[in-house]
Amino acid sequence: DITVKQLFSDQHFAEDEQITLHGWVKTVRGSKRVGFIELSDGSCFKRAQIVMQSDLPNYEELTKLPISSTIGVTGTVVYTPEAKQPLEIHAESIELEGHSDNDYPLQKKKHTYEYLRTMAHLRPRTNTFYAVFRIRSLAAFAIHQYLQSEDFVYVNTPIITSSDAEGAGEMFRVTTLDMENLPRTEDGKVDDHEDFFKKETNLTVSGQLAVEPFALAFKNVYTFGPTFRAENSHTSRHAAEFWMIEPEMAFADLKDVIVEAEGLLKYVVSYLFDHAMDELQFLNDNVDEHLIERLTKTREEPFAQITYTEAIDLLQKADVDFEVPVYWGLDLESEHERYLSEQVFKKPVFLTDYPKDIKAFYMRVNDDDKTVAAVDLLVPEIGELIGGSQREEREDVLAAKIKELDMPMEEYQWYLDLRKYGETEHSGFGIGFERLLMYVTGMENIRDVIPYPRTPGNAEF
Ligand code: 4AD
Ligand code: MG
Repeated sequence: DITVKQLFSDQHFAEDEQITLHGWVKTVRGSKRVGFIELSDGSCFKRAQIVMQSDLPNYEELTKLPISSTIGVTGTVVYTPEAKQPLEIHAESIELEGHSDNDYPLQKKKHTYEYLRTMAHLRPRTNTFYAVFRIRSLAAFAIHQYLQSEDFVYVNTPIITSSDAEGAGEMFRVTTLDMENLPRTEDGKVDDHEDFFKKETNLTVSGQLAVEPFALAFKNVYTFGPTFRAENSHTSRHAAEFWMIEPEMAFADLKDVIVEAEGLLKYVVSYLFDHAMDELQFLNDNVDEHLIERLTKTREEPFAQITYTEAIDLLQKADVDFEVPVYWGLDLESEHERYLSEQVFKKPVFLTDYPKDIKAFYMRVNDDDKTVAAVDLLVPEIGELIGGSQREEREDVLAAKIKELDMPMEEYQWYLDLRKYGETEHSGFGIGFERLLMYVTGMENIRDVIPYPRTPGNAEF
């Protein structure tokens, strides 16, 4: 038996060589004399064109097969250089292996993404979602390949944590406590010491704090795993469960973050051009007509770079009525981020040196004492794709910050230890994997690049 992928590979099949394929019927049409089945076996985006003559004993039944029936086809390869398809299979026998009901919900017409979200178990069979989830797998592989080739060590950081890495308080609580009869301390608070871990625990919002110690042992490291945020954001770019890639580098400053982030994105795009051209072409033709053009530019052209302060200036001069007015100190909204990357630069742009008050406690304070060595990468169609920074390596400055924010000092002693024992300049960044997928597929809703999306009010399957 062979696969459709093998059929279309360079591996040559002799004209009239007999082969057998198993797959799902995608379309079927038949006349009195001859019928055609488009067969997909999942091995690649392409489908095999099966030609059946009416002298097949079960011809009648075959022409009436419901979509998604499973069949086994034995036949010969016939090359058709003049036709749209380079080759077809002339069936000698076709066996029905798995029946499909006539009410199969994915008929040939184009369904809306909203409708398809109600059937996460069937949508990977559509062309669009097949392409998206194949790209999801390839992009993950490309990221590992790039980072490993740059000598980054992959570190698995915990999913259950007791710290709020981003200090944003948007965490999902992990508990075994009986909600009906919560144990209380004397002052009436929930007593986390009675819980499984003897302390309050949450699902991780970021692996960064846990990966930093490894950067100070291995120099270059990264996490790539699921992260969770209980932001009640009903947007097309926020998910409650998403994956993040977080590279962290010792002996590296903000400039190194920018170089590494750009190199990684360019590599992923190149990798997809080399390994997913059928999928990208389909998405370009059916989902986002500018996709390939945008990705080509991403791969070929250097990204832009300005400071936050320069960005505020550009936004204030812009002839646009933003919903949220712009002032220095504003935590930019996606309308501002998209204006910069789509209208001003028309490509990805790094923004550096944000006001310290809107950024996390671990970012290194600049000499102006007003900004931090932070960087976000803003890209067209999405807005923020990457957030990163140089980390505050000065023990006294960091300790003062933790105190100022009223964070529990004893919980961060280990983090301060990193500055105490062999401190060094170090920096890192986080890429939202799903936002990257939106960028490279043209899909406009984060729910449509996640196999089983989790968003407020939705945890189906
Ligand atoms: O900017 P964020 O919050 O940065 C961090 O978590 C740092 N610890 C990263 C680091 O320096 N190691 O998140 C990083 C990226 C964002 O730029 C965005 O792409 C993505 O994660 N992201 C989300 N993606 C989907 N849904 C959400 N709710 C997201 N929140 C952040
Ligand atoms: Mg951010």
